[in-house]
Amino acid sequence: MLLPRYFALIPAAGVGARMGADHPKQYARLAGKPMLRHVLDTFAGHGAISHAFVVVSAADGYIDDALRDDSAQPGPALAGRVTVVRNGGDTRRQSVLNGLLAMRAEVADDEWVLVHDAARPGLSPALVERLIAGVRDGDVGGLLALPVVDTLKRSDSEGRACATVPRAGLWSAQTPQMFRYGLLKKALEAAADVTDEAGAIEAIGFAPRLVPGSARNMKVTLPGDLALAELYLKGLND
Ligand code: CTP
Ligand code: MG
Repeated sequence: MLLPRYFALIPAAGVGARMGADHPKQYARLAGKPMLRHVLDTFAGHGAISHAFVVVSAADGYIDDALRDDSAQPGPALAGRVTVVRNGGDTRRQSVLNGLLAMRAEVADDEWVLVHDAARPGLSPALVERLIAGVRDGDVGGLLALPVVDTLKRSDSEGRACATVPRAGLWSAQTPQMFRYGLLKKALEAAADVTDEAGAIEAIGFAPRLVPGSARNMKVTLPGDLALAELYLKGLND
């Protein structure tokens, strides 16, 4: 029997409302190329990944330029390694689900899908390897995540701390989140209100494995995140 393969699925159909730029944040240029291009180059250049699928909104007018963009140092060839799905949804969950449906003919139920935010350009080949190595021997799947290090406060309605929340056992979820195609599709179809794939898997009674991620795999959300993400991409603060 063939060993299960690994596929990347990148939801990139958001508008970047919190970034407040005149283009979706996944197309912001960082360290010489669009943010999304860093992610696509990492997966396309990774020997363990069979193919990458990127989901953009039907009205996206930037993706073709981003795929063509070779102004930076030449990356891996994307042709034949990346498929664009122009069918983003209103929510991240819906975009991921639309991507899974578009992959249907090429991926078997027991093969692995690594879902990764377009807005996390700092993902490195080593982190992809760490996730795969930490998760492939189980049936449920798992995700990169970081143990919470700060002291956590709950605020009242006037912005005052009213309680200190114990941080033992708390992690911040990152991506990729890696699950078998069949289980992931079933979980996302059943989920109502989840912000990540692991949440959907938890909701149907499974416990995804937490694999230590990295600060460099931060999500770019606010304007102030751009400069830090660029430092990581340039190899500083690793
Ligand atoms: N995403 C998506 N489809 C949506 C919403 C989000 O594919 N309907 C993707 C984004 O493009 C991003 C990832 O999900 O790669 C994480 O979402 P987030 O960081 O929230 O990005 P945006 O939704 O674009 O940003 P904001 O919430 O500030 O509008
Ligand atoms: Mg969002």
